[in-house]
Amino acid sequence: MSSKPLHVACIMDGNGRWARKRGLPRTAGHTAGEESLADVVRAASKRDVAYLTVFGFSTENWVRPRAEVRHILGLHKKLFGRIAELNENNVRVNWIGRPFDEPGSRTPLYVQRAIRKAIDETKTNTGMVLTVAFDYGSRSELTRAAKRIVANQTELTPANLQLNLYDASLPPVDVLVRTSGESRISNFLLWQINVAKIYFTDRPWPDFDSVELDAAIALAKN
Ligand code: IPE
Ligand code: IPE
Ligand code: MG
Repeated sequence: MSSKPLHVACIMDGNGRWARKRGLPRTAGHTAGEESLADVVRAASKRDVAYLTVFGFSTENWVRPRAEVRHILGLHKKLFGRIAELNENNVRVNWIGRPFDEPGSRTPLYVQRAIRKAIDETKTNTGMVLTVAFDYGSRSELTRAAKRIVANQTELTPANLQLNLYDASLPPVDVLVRTSGESRISNFLLWQINVAKIYFTDRPWPDFDSVELDAAIALAKN
């Protein structure tokens, strides 16, 4: 059993199903999911978690209905706006995803600004690092890393590939959580989960709580 601080990653799935079960619109599920994330961040920051990385929005999710995408973008603004709370918990905000200046990037300016502001206003915090994957896809990340290695004429080694990821400082994931009964990876952190345990739960993300977090942490540690 190891006591080193952990890297926990979450594929936050099932917001839509959570809402449907209650006769609510999908957007209500996303709102509940953002609140659940705020609770999980607080809980994780008080545990043995050094890195919490969450899948907020994928490169594939842009094809969803426009109103739903707009709602999810607004929730990211809200999430990155929780600066007082994050500072209170000594959490440093980080982001991975398609760089805003790259062709194909669709992140609107107001979300870019919220991301930059959260990173800047939490940068001196020394506790848990919360990385939000927004407009993130692992194949895009790995292809970009490989292209950069070719362009720089450096040797293609695992260490050099790691150095060219969106965030080279993210350590390997110890446990990957996927909620809502799906047992898929959905193009999330394919490189970083090389040695990760995987914790699947039937609960949808809005119902994921600190009891489930403790179970995932326990799996990582045994
Ligand atoms: C996860 O919940 C949130 C995002 C992908 C943004 P879903 O919206 O995928 O919920 P389900 O899978 O339809 O229940
Ligand atoms: C994965 O969930 C992406 C996020 C949680 C942001 P999806 O619901 O988009 O994944 P698939 O479509 O079931 O693989
Ligand atoms: Mg889903």
